[in-house]
Parts: sequence; C-alpha cells; structure tokens
Amino acid sequence: MCGIVGYVGKKPALPILLSGLKRLEYRGYDSYGFCVFNAGQEPFFHKRVGKISGADKELLEMDIQGTIGEAHTRWATTGSVTEANAHPHFDCNKEIFVVHNGIIENYSELKDQLINEGHKFSSETDTEVLAHLIEKFLKEKTEVGEKRKLEEAVAVALKLVKGTYGLLVMAKSEPEKLVAARLSSPLLIGVNDGEYIVASDPIAIAPFASNIVYLEDYEIAVITLGNLSLAKERAPEKMEYESEEAEKGDYENFMLKEIMEEPTAVENAIKGRLIIETGSVKLGGLDSVAEKLREIDNFILIGCGTAHYAARAGEYMLEEYAGIKTDVDVGSEFRYRKPILNDKTAAIFISQSGETADTLACLHELKQKGVLSLGVTNSIGSTQSRETDAGVYTRSGPEIAVASTKAFVGQLATLAMITVYLGRQRTMSLVTGSRIVSELARIPDLARQILLQREKIKALAEKYKGYKNFWYIGRKYNAPVAMEGALKLKEISYLHAEGIPGGELKHGSLALVDKDFPTIAICLSDSVYEKMVSNIQEVKARGGIVIAIATEGNENIKKIVDDVIYIPKTLEMLSPLLSVIPLHLFSYYMAVALGRDVDRPRNLAKSVTVE
Ligand code: M6R
Repeated sequence: MCGIVGYVGKKPALPILLSGLKRLEYRGYDSYGFCVFNAGQEPFFHKRVGKISGADKELLEMDIQGTIGEAHTRWATTGSVTEANAHPHFDCNKEIFVVHNGIIENYSELKDQLINEGHKFSSETDTEVLAHLIEKFLKEKTEVGEKRKLEEAVAVALKLVKGTYGLLVMAKSEPEKLVAARLSSPLLIGVNDGEYIVASDPIAIAPFASNIVYLEDYEIAVITLGNLSLAKERAPEKMEYESEEAEKGDYENFMLKEIMEEPTAVENAIKGRLIIETGSVKLGGLDSVAEKLREIDNFILIGCGTAHYAARAGEYMLEEYAGIKTDVDVGSEFRYRKPILNDKTAAIFISQSGETADTLACLHELKQKGVLSLGVTNSIGSTQSRETDAGVYTRSGPEIAVASTKAFVGQLATLAMITVYLGRQRTMSLVTGSRIVSELARIPDLARQILLQREKIKALAEKYKGYKNFWYIGRKYNAPVAMEGALKLKEISYLHAEGIPGGELKHGSLALVDKDFPTIAICLSDSVYEKMVSNIQEVKARGGIVIAIATEGNENIKKIVDDVIYIPKTLEMLSPLLSVIPLHLFSYYMAVALGRDVDRPRNLAKSVTVE
C-alpha cells in the first residue's frame, strides 16, 4: 500500500531515501515525507501532499548531511490526503518519528486514552498513536525502575496494538538508531558492508544491497552503523532481484513496457518446465508435496482483482483437464465463509505481490485448519511465497504499473502447468498432456503477433475514447478475461466498464445497451462460439456497438460486429493468454488518449496490504 524506506550508513541518507521512495512510489503516491537525523542539528523533517517524482530537485539542493533517516510514500487509509496525515508521524514534542504501513485497528480507543493522559495529536491517522505510545513508554520507567531503550518502548507499545504494521522508528534521544518492526506487513533489510537500507519492497533495496534479511512477524530489529541486531540472529540471504528489470527503459511508462513483456512473461514462466515427450511439466516447487497432491480431490483457488480472474480461468482448467473439483473466491469474501474442508482439500493462493492482505488472511485461516497451501506468486521472498507449504513462482519479473498485466499471463501459464502436473498424476493422457505443453510453448510467439497490432488497437481507442460505458462479455475460459478487461479499463481510464459472462447479458444487463454503450465481445472459434454469436446479436438487435476479439480467419464475424481484433488460434484452455492482450492494449491506449496517469491511477496502490 504505502512504501517505507530507511537508511543507516556513512553516506548522506536523503538521496538514498529519495531514490528508494521514487522506486516505491507505485505502492502509494498521495503524499510523502522524510525524517533525517542531521548530526547535532535539528532533524530534517519534510512532508508534502503529491507525488515524490518531480520533487527530487528541490530536495537534493538542500544540504542535508545526516546519515540516518526514514521516509514514506502514502496511500491514504485512515485520514484524508493532507500534509498533516503524511508520514512520518511524531509524538507531542516532535522527538519520536514513525513511518508505518498497515492498519492499527484499535487506534481510536488508544487515541482516546492517550488524549485523556494529555497527549496532543496533530493528524487524523491511526499511525500517530504509535508515536505517542512510544513516547509514553520511553518516558515511563520499567517495573524495576530502569529507563527503557527505544526498542523496548517500541516493544511495549506494540503489545497494545491490534492490527498490522511494518514500521520504522527514530528518536532524538537515541539518534544513532533506527528501530524496525513488522506484523503482517513486509519489511526487508538490505545489508551492504556495514550500511543498511530497510524497505517494504526489494525494489527499493536492489540498487544498494544484494544481501537481505526478511524481518519476521513480531520481530523487532535495531539498526545502527555497522550493526544489525535481530531477535533471531541469522545471516542475510542473497536477494534474487534484477534491479534493471524495474527500469522503464525506452518505454513511456511501465504499463506499456509490461504489456509488451507479456510474451516474455509466458516464456519465463514455462522456461525449463515443459516436457513435451512425456506430456508433463517439471515444477520443482511442488516436489516436496507431490505425494500429498496425488490424494487431493478438491481445490480452493483464492486471489484478488486480476489474480482472482486468473483463478477463475484456472478453475475451468483444473476441472476440465485435471478432473478436480475446484472452488474459487476473492480473498476478501472467502474469509467470511465456512468452507467445507476435508483432508483432501488443498488451496492455491494467487498473487503477483505475495503481500495482498486479503489473500494472506485466507492463507493464514486455511493453514490453521490444516489445509495444504500452494502459492502461485511472482515476488520472490514475499510473505505468501514464504508462508505457503509449496508453490510455483510465475517469474514474470517486477511489475511496477499499478494495473496488473504481465503478471496475469504469468499466472495463467502457471495454472495451466499446474493443471498438467495434477492431470498427469490422475487420468490425463500423454497425448493430452503433450498437446497442452506443446501449445503452451507456442504461446509467446503467438502473443508477439498480437502485439504487432498495437497501432490498430491504438486507433480503436481513439475511435471509442468518447464513450463513457463499456460491457465486456465472454464465456467459459474467456468470461474471466472479460472481467479482467473491464477491470483494466476502469482502473486506468476511470471509465465505467462491466465484465460479465456473455450468457448473463439477457438476464438484466441488456437493458443498458444502446448506441452509447459499446460491448467488447471475446468471440473465439471455440466450443462456445455459437453462443457468443447469439449474445452479440442480442446486443446488435438493440442498437449496440460491438467490438469483437475473434480468431484469425473468421471473416464472418465482420458481418455482424462493428470492429474486430484478430488473435491467433490456440487451445481453448490457453486462449485467455492471448485474448487478454488486446484488452490490455485497448485499456492502455484509452487511458493515454484520455490523458490519465496510466502507471499510477488515482485512488489506487500496487500492493494492497490492508484488509
Ligand atoms: O499482488 P496481487 O496479485 O495479490 O494483487 C491483487 C490485486 O490487488 C491486483 O490484481 C489489482 O486488482 C490490480 N491493480 C489490477 O490491475
């Protein structure tokens, strides 16, 4: 959600914090702030509403030499977007400074108590209670009459807190130290020759350090120059992260770069994993649970947003080809259900970031019930990848744009491979397995052919940019793709779009169709083609405009729709990997045509670490 960076070293902290914050800005970007302890002088303290990009010149011109500091980029949850609500937050005397990701659920009662005790608050946020609690316990002596150290005061304060946190704390009274703590909100410490950079995401650490320590839940770390003190001493791990992959290169923005990387995302997902001769796949991440998986007879697939749509497509794959009963839900709803579980249930958690709070909450719940948990995760070392029993990395590379694109095709490719893996453990024949893996191997090239139609899709966006509402329809494997297409359009163009199964139109939604409400129909030459044609005709009969995504060679479709984008023929099961590409491009060009900030759409954040 928000982004955190901290630094303790010998170099001036501000440029390092600034660079980290800019790399983290995709996580939240409504306001930002810094605190740097400036040897012997008053701390440098700076908060602003708006995006950090653009502000760097002004900041770098300031002569701030302090070598310890913390910074934050915010995505508002509690408290509106104001300078006062930006982090760092501080105590009554501006001596303790806190940056925080997560939510303090019981902040309201804690705040009332602290106000009664005489504390003065200066923001509407939940985070500020942390600063005042730490102030209180830093002043208060221990039971044996001793003065508390900063980390001890933080520990006592956190005992009173309900919720989630990844946080950094600095105090004027102990200016050499940065205290870090986490509970269900990631915090990583990059270690580089006696200097430390702490962040909520490896992307901020990658240019500075290649060794990393993942802070664990309930752990408090104390960082000083040349020393990292952890509750459980451990050696840093090598960070598997390519810093350059998170650069925009020659592209105008990350979203376009990431759409153009969709073929590569599939290529990376399948690299070294397909065995065409035996019609099977090699998924090393599942080796440890291979025998358990043979016994599983029902799967629960959980994800949010785009990952949920990948799960929906995965449901069709697993049921049709692996013959396993599959149930899908969004993370934020699944947790309210009382699922029927047995010792043959396994769950697959799908997430690009591996940090989505709603998905993680389900993971924790199902783990507690003893359900075997698998992760389909993009971010290496993320909470999800570390907490699931086993899993498969999608290997899509860093996805920076808030709108998820290449991660979606990576998830689909991975789910297709898991389907083959499980199917071959059961009744899937060598011939079927071989057909799927051979076709998967062709997908990157087919996807590249679609990308060659960029200009045509851009022209379509120009043509349709004046419309305010869009239906997206598809059936079977492509019903979730219709939903994904609509989500993408809403998210980055701020236009209204709804994705529904084609057959559902006539059950009410058709009432909205008229000449001003175009429909984008995924109408491929597959098992539901005729049914989709009927749905298109229902729209046309009511004066609606239809843009079809159709299979190459289908000339007839041109007679019934207004515009067509062709995609190459593939297996129906794998068709979402291709049909989604023109939808991603269409949303992108619509947003550009409307002058939107495509990488950082309003009100959103990349990684949703609050429930
Ligand atoms: O990191 P995750 O895949 O768990 O994220 C899930 C959703 O928040 C995410 O897909 C979101 O819907 C995207 N912004 C959609 O483009």
